[in-house]
Amino acid sequence: MIFAANFKTNHTRSSTRAYMEQLAQTLASKRPEDRVLVFPPATALDRYDGDVTIGAQNAYPVHKGAVTGEIGLEQLEEFGIKTILIGHSERRELLGESQETVAKKFAFFKENGFEIVYCIGEPLEVREAGDDAVKTYLFAEFEGIDLSYEKLIVAYEPIWAIGTGRSAESEEIAATHGLLRTKLSCPLLYGGSVKPANISEIAAIGNVDGVLVGSAALDVESFSEMILK
Ligand code: PGA
Repeated sequence: MIFAANFKTNHTRSSTRAYMEQLAQTLASKRPEDRVLVFPPATALDRYDGDVTIGAQNAYPVHKGAVTGEIGLEQLEEFGIKTILIGHSERRELLGESQETVAKKFAFFKENGFEIVYCIGEPLEVREAGDDAVKTYLFAEFEGIDLSYEKLIVAYEPIWAIGTGRSAESEEIAATHGLLRTKLSCPLLYGGSVKPANISEIAAIGNVDGVLVGSAALDVESFSEMILK
């Protein structure tokens, strides 16, 4: 299993350090085959101890240069960061990242050998329109994306399940991951209100190779509980 924590715009540099110190204890007793990834905010990117991969939540597809307010490869290289989250629905929806932008970012970080956690997920109205609509929507989010990239991880996160406390039903996750599996051989994560109370059920679903957790991973004890369950 892969356990990934997305801090979003939460935690400071100092609270991330305290979090990582406590997480290191959990990591010492995690199952050796499991992987733990943490995506802190850009201001808390650093080198941390323990069997954990630190990733960037976002970066601009440039080595360095004139892109006010963004970070590029140079700022990630400082900390040896080689993992990035691309295509999160909050960036697509709140920050207006188009599929074209997302695909450009993907191509750049692929070219630079990054492990890419590529996020896809449909809004509620698409889910309510039925299976065909979901399929069309999700597959459109693969446009311009090299699905055979060897360092690819795909995270399916239905938008209506993110931060709402209402995870998708196991049957919905199973069916959607089954659909995605017809296109993908990479690890497939589920995200959207994953928490200690539902982690065992979600982890047991076919074609679920891991989870991407926001809210319930902000507290290190809660994230640790999921890893050790
Ligand atoms: P959530 O967020 O766990 O708070 O639903 C998941 C995500 O957006 O990655």
